Amino acid sequence: MARGVFITLEGADGCGKSTQAGLLAAAIEATGRETVRLREPGGTKISEKVRAILLDPANAEMVPECELLLYEASRAQLTREVIAPALERGAVVLCDRYYDSTYAYQAGGRELDEGLVRRANELGSCGLSPDRTLVLDLPASVGYARATAGGADRMEAEGLAFQERVRAAYLRLAEEEPGRVRVVDASGERDEVASRIRGALADLVGELA
Ligand code: TYD
Repeated sequence: MARGVFITLEGADGCGKSTQAGLLAAAIEATGRETVRLREPGGTKISEKVRAILLDPANAEMVPECELLLYEASRAQLTREVIAPALERGAVVLCDRYYDSTYAYQAGGRELDEGLVRRANELGSCGLSPDRTLVLDLPASVGYARATAGGADRMEAEGLAFQERVRAAYLRLAEEEPGRVRVVDASGERDEVASRIRGALADLVGELA
């Protein structure tokens, strides 16, 4: 069966992921391959509704287990409805956040049991793993200041110490799974970062202009 390429972009809040996802999607599209750009939580009708619940600052009473299960619920719908069919068509799927966000935020940031989060991730991803995951890395204080300059959503309202734990969790993942998870220095000019990202994908999608 033809199988596409599944790439995920990760990082703490304010690391510049959305900008870079746009640049990368354009570079992959320019090769003529079908490119499907997604972001989590979201990407389907149901997942967007779950996203609104998750990010609403009015839901301050949400307990960590509820939060974990909502991220996984959103992911399961996106995986089966959009990601798996796109990969079967041979597309390149570029997803802004996937299950490593749950590891970094719910196990790292929120300090939920790691084993529990990993099992939940298996369920939410329906067993589908990215081929390559790029962690855009910045000092937490720099990202946090950027992310909250225009106000904070429910997750950003957790504060800087939370973001430090998120970053540390991402760096642990990269050590554990060096083949899949690569850390990309997200400091410096936008185009420099974009070029580092393309370099970290060349073995999978070929040289990108
Ligand atoms: P979003 O506005 O999309 O942030 P960003 O542009 O930084 O991706 O909000 C998503 C928030 O949800 C972000 O703070 C990270 C958090 N998150 C989790 O805590 N767990 C998860 O599994 C995912 C996918 C996101």
